Amino acid sequence: MTWQPNSWRDYPIIQVPEYPDQSKVTEVEETLGKKPPLVFAGEVQNLRDQLGAVAKGEAFLLQGGDCAESFAEFSADNIRDSFKVFLQMAVVLTFGASLPVVKVGRMAGQFAKPRSASTEVVGGIELPSYRGDMVNGIEFEKDARIPDPERLLKVYEQSASTLNLLRAFAQGGMADLHKVHSWTTGYITDTVQAERYEELAARIDECLAFMQACGLTANTASPIGETDFFTSHEALLLNYEESLTRRDTITDAKGWFTTSAHMVWIGDRTRQIDGAHVEYMSGIDNPIGLKCGPSMDIDDLRRLIDKLNPENIPGRLTLISRMGADQVLEKLPPLVKAVKEHGSSVVWCSDPMHGNTVKASTGYKTRRVDDVMKEVAGFFEVHDAHGTYPGGVHFEMTGQNVTECLGGVSEVTEARLGDRYHTHCDPRLNASQSLELSFLIADLMKKRRDGQLQQKKAS
Ligand code: PEP
Ligand code: CO
Repeated sequence: MTWQPNSWRDYPIIQVPEYPDQSKVTEVEETLGKKPPLVFAGEVQNLRDQLGAVAKGEAFLLQGGDCAESFAEFSADNIRDSFKVFLQMAVVLTFGASLPVVKVGRMAGQFAKPRSASTEVVGGIELPSYRGDMVNGIEFEKDARIPDPERLLKVYEQSASTLNLLRAFAQGGMADLHKVHSWTTGYITDTVQAERYEELAARIDECLAFMQACGLTANTASPIGETDFFTSHEALLLNYEESLTRRDTITDAKGWFTTSAHMVWIGDRTRQIDGAHVEYMSGIDNPIGLKCGPSMDIDDLRRLIDKLNPENIPGRLTLISRMGADQVLEKLPPLVKAVKEHGSSVVWCSDPMHGNTVKASTGYKTRRVDDVMKEVAGFFEVHDAHGTYPGGVHFEMTGQNVTECLGGVSEVTEARLGDRYHTHCDPRLNASQSLELSFLIADLMKKRRDGQLQQKKAS
């Protein structure tokens, strides 16, 4: 059987919205099919090459952003602040690891959510679950919860505007390393990590002055003045992806690309080997991610790898482990071992968010910064023990000063969760918690590098 952008339609599918009028859905798909691509194949291949370097241990992946983007929180300031936090985290990690950091946002397309239950009951009333702004409205009202295909068009438009601004930020001067001091967001001051960040920024200033003296400036060395920033989302609504799946007419690439984002991933709930999502993803040439939760079986993982990356191309497949802080040391090792024995080149990335969601006594869905950190530390430990490379991290975070995750230096307590709890789905790290974690991860990477240097010396 030959793969086509629509061949997924012959496979069993879950997590799809039940639209009341199928003809409207078809109309929207046709409209989307005529829209220009959001990204182009040359950029996608560039990301695949950069992830290829990660697979070989020569770079580190930082992926992050909202759990769910929303129409209500769409603003230039929000995009700017998330981008700033991203730059801060990336520079901390670059310094810690002495490696390039590949930056991939959960942005400009991350709007659809898989749900554990298809309905929600509040005060005795049962309504369809909210599935992200791409599907229905978050308000607990009958009409709002009816899936509306017009929302796909709105997602396309918002993604295009978001991507436009991100490109401008990444390449128009904001990411210039000389601006490292200006990436701080207003509300992180007087904390230990703000101080640590200022120290690091001062050291970068020194390096830049030295490099300038050697003739290396933003004009002569582009990585000083700009950065590559890529987008990604969970490819949940396959009709949206199909409509934006194109052959490239500019590069010599022969395959099909989804042009909705540079990278897309398969969620932990939709990774059935014979299901529609795996079928669709197997045929596109973008770099793809596969979420691996505690129920991932070794044989299934091998089969998934064979179907998703049959040519074993480095950078094609990122395995995103999301086991939970208490399970990572038990559940991850068999998978890491199996992948290694299978001879597969993959990027191993840690998502320390989705296995650590708890309910606070006040009812809020939350996560403890300590658990997030514990899972990342466990992830590093497992790779250390197997001689494999902990290639990246995947966070749910925002540049806004929200109170959604517990703990951190800014000490968000259960009682304070309600102060600024704005997420449309899962709880996000705020800028201060994100920065704090990036310092801890930079320390882990530095320790790993020092250990390797010592081993080299000894041998
Ligand atoms: C997510 O990344 O928002 C998500 C739903 O993750 P997972 O598929 O790992 O549960
Ligand atoms: Co989430």
